[in-house]
Amino acid sequence: MTLATPITVIRGRFLDIQKTVSQATEIADQVRYIEDGILITEQGKIRWFGTWDAAQDHLPTDVEIQHYPDQLIIPGMIDTHIHFPQTEMVGAYGEQLLSWLNTYTFPTEIQFKDQAYAEEIAKFFVQELLKNGTTTALVFCTVHPESVNALFEAAEQYQMRLIAGKVMMDRHAPEALCDTAESAYDDSKALIEKWHGQGRTLYAITPRFAPTSTPEQLEKAGQLKAEYPDVYVHTHLSENKDEIAWVKDLFPAQKGYLDVYHHYGLTGQRSVFAHCVHLEDAEWKCMHETNSAIAFCPTSNLFLGSGLFPLKKTWEQQVKVGLGTDIGAGTSFSLLQTVNEAYKVQQLQGDKLSAFESLYHATLGGAKALDLDDKLGNFNIGKEADFVVLNLQATALQQLRQSRSKSIDDSLFALFTIGDDRNIEATYIYGQKAYSAN
Ligand code: GUN
Ligand code: ZN
Repeated sequence: MTLATPITVIRGRFLDIQKTVSQATEIADQVRYIEDGILITEQGKIRWFGTWDAAQDHLPTDVEIQHYPDQLIIPGMIDTHIHFPQTEMVGAYGEQLLSWLNTYTFPTEIQFKDQAYAEEIAKFFVQELLKNGTTTALVFCTVHPESVNALFEAAEQYQMRLIAGKVMMDRHAPEALCDTAESAYDDSKALIEKWHGQGRTLYAITPRFAPTSTPEQLEKAGQLKAEYPDVYVHTHLSENKDEIAWVKDLFPAQKGYLDVYHHYGLTGQRSVFAHCVHLEDAEWKCMHETNSAIAFCPTSNLFLGSGLFPLKKTWEQQVKVGLGTDIGAGTSFSLLQTVNEAYKVQQLQGDKLSAFESLYHATLGGAKALDLDDKLGNFNIGKEADFVVLNLQATALQQLRQSRSKSIDDSLFALFTIGDDRNIEATYIYGQKAYSAN
């Protein structure tokens, strides 16, 4: 028998975005800031949310109120692209994408054949997500089914809403990391049957990127997607100029990089493409028409020298976008730090990224990119109760900076610019405290 999740009552200062929007200019109107609020969760979901004054008729009498008088509580942050096996190789020196993969990434990933090793890193990884206030992530594993089991088992301990999948890769990689078109299909299918919709876990069909899959394997990936339409597709797209030229060489019959995935039935409402730094006009159009999503990974794009992602275009072209840390090409697990770099990437293109737009991308917008905005992303009643308690004054510099702040907008912007895991005081998953700094 499973015990019913107890009721949790949280009091504090809350900030979220009430509704998804179709233009950045509409975000400010949807900001909900409650200086003294109450959040009541039951069975992992939000049962009530509002001001302290309005809460009096709703407060259960027998539950202790967890009060955070000086903190800021926001919805759990969402990482739309990250590799758990690359946790140990963050900060690998000197290469751009293709040589970085061969020199550092593939040797690291070979180790995940070993179930015990995969379990050790999976546990560390999940704890690191929580420590950084990330409550949902779309995750690459390795080619080994063991790596998927290890990750989902670690996430299950916290009832985390995680999406992940086994890498499909049958060429242009070391033998020890290659599957076949057939075995990738069989292994992925077995993992879908085992994990998709099991508790809060969801599965993503995960061809690494077009160059490491044969046409036969992409065909099998498409077949799987057709058989399980509500499963995700997760891959890389248009990250680096040499990569793009290689794809054009390998798939001359296709109109471009994205058309390779589109041809095999891999675009759609639950397809997430990491990077998209160098998309062509026709590709933006295809992303929009298929309702596919982009994971914008600024720390990775800067670290690998891939290029500057034009965030403004996602609004112009009406393409869904979320933020990704892309560990280990990305350099931080923190979505606060990811926003910091996202801001600078826009500055270099003459564009602005407001604090509220950043909050949107890190929460509700990310949820929308993952087709989970009916379940995650804000404090609306009925949603799953994943949230983060932030200490805005975790360092001496932050204390000074925040003491000069006159608005929530400015406080949030300062947090995004100089904040990191030190600002995460507690992380709640499904109404329960899963991480506490103290
Ligand atoms: N493209 C194909 N594989 C990878 C990877 O592991 N990381 C990044 N950043 N890009 C990729
Ligand atoms: Zn990646």
